Formats: sequence, C-alpha cells, structure tokens
Amino acid sequence: MATIGILTGGGDCPGLNPVIRAVVRKAHNEGYKVIGIKDGWKGLIEANTMPLDLVATSGILHRGGTILGTSRTNPYKKEGGVEKVKANFKKLGLDALIATGGEDTLGVANKLTKDGVPNIVGVPKTIDNDLSATDYTFGFDTAINIAMECIDRLHTTAESHHRILVAEVMGRHAGWIAVESGLAGGADYILVPEMPVDIDEICEAVKKRHARGKQFSIIVVAEGAKMKERDVTQDQSLDEFGHVKLGGIGETIAKEVEKKTGFETRVTVFGHIQRGGSPTAFDRILGTRFGVKAVELVKAGQFGHMVALVGNKIVAVPLEEAVRELKTIDMELYNVAKEFFG
Ligand code: F6P
Repeated sequence: MATIGILTGGGDCPGLNPVIRAVVRKAHNEGYKVIGIKDGWKGLIEANTMPLDLVATSGILHRGGTILGTSRTNPYKKEGGVEKVKANFKKLGLDALIATGGEDTLGVANKLTKDGVPNIVGVPKTIDNDLSATDYTFGFDTAINIAMECIDRLHTTAESHHRILVAEVMGRHAGWIAVESGLAGGADYILVPEMPVDIDEICEAVKKRHARGKQFSIIVVAEGAKMKERDVTQDQSLDEFGHVKLGGIGETIAKEVEKKTGFETRVTVFGHIQRGGSPTAFDRILGTRFGVKAVELVKAGQFGHMVALVGNKIVAVPLEEAVRELKTIDMELYNVAKEFFG
C-alpha cells in the first residue's frame, strides 16, 4: 500500500482540518495509507509523525486550526535540514507528500522539488489570500467575516462616543483582508500595503464626512501598510523566512489622525482572532475540494504542482507559478471601496 504524508506549515487558519479530513478520506477510498507530519517542515526534519485514518480525522471538519500542529520552520535555514528531510522521506516510506501552506511552505516545497524530492503536491492556504495562481485560499473567507463582524461592532461604539476608530487587520504584503472586510463593513477609509499611507488624505476624508453631519468614522488598516516617511514596525526580529513581526501602524495612524483632525481616536487590533475558530462554509468546502484534488494529483503522478481554485474549478498549477510572485489586491475592487471613503 502506497503511503502519503501530509503536513501543514506557516500560520494556521480555519480550513486546514477540512483539508486533512478530505485527504484521508480520498486516500482511504483510493487504497493509500496516510501519515500526518507534525508541525510543518519541523516534523519532517525530526521524523515526528502521527497516524491518520478515518477515526483520527472524524469530527474535525468544523474545527479551526490544524490537528497536525504547525510551525514556521524552514529546512533551508537549519543545519543539515534538507538532508534530514530527504532521509526521513525515505525512512518514513513516503511515496508522496502533500504540503499545505502559504508562500513560505510552498516555496520550500518548490525548492525541494528542484533539489531531488520530486513527489510533492501543494495545497494553498493563507488568510492573507496573497498566493498567485489561485483565485482564493481557504482561511480568507473566515478571516474577512470575522473582521467584518468586528467592524460592525466598532460602528456602534464609535457612533455612541463620536469617535474615530482605527481597526488594524492582518495582511502582511497584500491588503485583501482590509479591502474586503472594509468593503463589507462599510469602512470610511481603507489602508493597504500596496499603497503608502497619506495621512493628510485620510484626514481630509474624515473631515468631509464629519462636515456633512457624521460624528464618527471607521478606518481599516492592514498591518503591513506603510507610512510614506518612516517604518513603524515595532519588532525588527526576523523569522526563518525573513519576515518581521508586524504591528504598530494602527496606533501611529490613530495618533496622527487625532492630532490633525482634533477628533478623539482609538485603535483596535483584531490580530489572531481573525485566524482562530471555525471555518465558514466556503472555507470548509474549498478545503475539502482541495484535499480531494490533492490525492487525485498524487494518483496521477502530477507532482511539483499545487491545487488551485480558478473560476469555480479546482485545477493543478505548477508550484513554481504559485510562488513566483505575491498576488496583490485587485485595484478595481479597491476603487469600488474608494467610492465610499469620506
Ligand atoms: O499567516 C499569515 C499571517 O496571519 C499574516 O497575516 C500575519 O502577518 C502573520 O501571519 C502573523 O504571524 P504570527 O502568527 O507568527 O504572529
């Protein structure tokens, strides 16, 4: 019986457990055995695994996070990491590996494919929705629905206190969460990493709104948005993929807006709330479709590929294409949101 390994790497997100469940079910139906690799690439470096069967994956469809655990370990940054991955691939008797993750995890999958670990299939995941070659990644829909609900809640308190409320949402390099949650939540201004922040423009929009009688405003800012003049990132330490820990932009904007408009301003950071809890129906279904398709790719020997949503079809795209560049926001969508600024 051929054996498939599965791992989940990078930041967790709702929809990972539906993928694991679907992989195990489809593999079972096709006569494969599945081994769960714990904590992303770290588990493959350490040969830390758990058996996965129908019993182990029962009752997890609605659960957030990942039963396999995750980490931001990069085998290319660990002494002998790649050699250990190769050796454990053999030791564990893996005929194929399904790597589920975002740009970093799939970037490693792509490099390993070129470096002589040819039996890898990718599954795209990230709440940031910034992976190329797929229209959507699971986790994103849940994140924007949570952020939208939080923005709704900010509206009532902002209105009661006649305040400006700045909501900082996730989104490291791309402002998908900011644009879509802001659009759905009726934001009065949205800031994204793709465009430098112009404080005067924000203040003008807020003043215009207040001049027509509104006494509160909601500004949504992606954590990766940048001030024109300076870097406001609080923590400069890097993870193994070279990312800084973001945070601080919301606070900076709130202070500047309050100073320049004279309106009392507060900031709320939504943070990991956006990544926790149960997946939406959309993310459960997308994760399930991705999981089933990933096993089909294994069966067809279509390695070095990632499953992707294109239109409403699940297709296979080369890993290389998926990790070549990040998918930044659709400016048409941002321009729709812009109609409601101020
Ligand atoms: O996985 C993507 C993401 O949620 C980004 O939006 C965010 O910048 C980052 O992960 C946060 O990472 P951590 O979980 O390490 O704080």
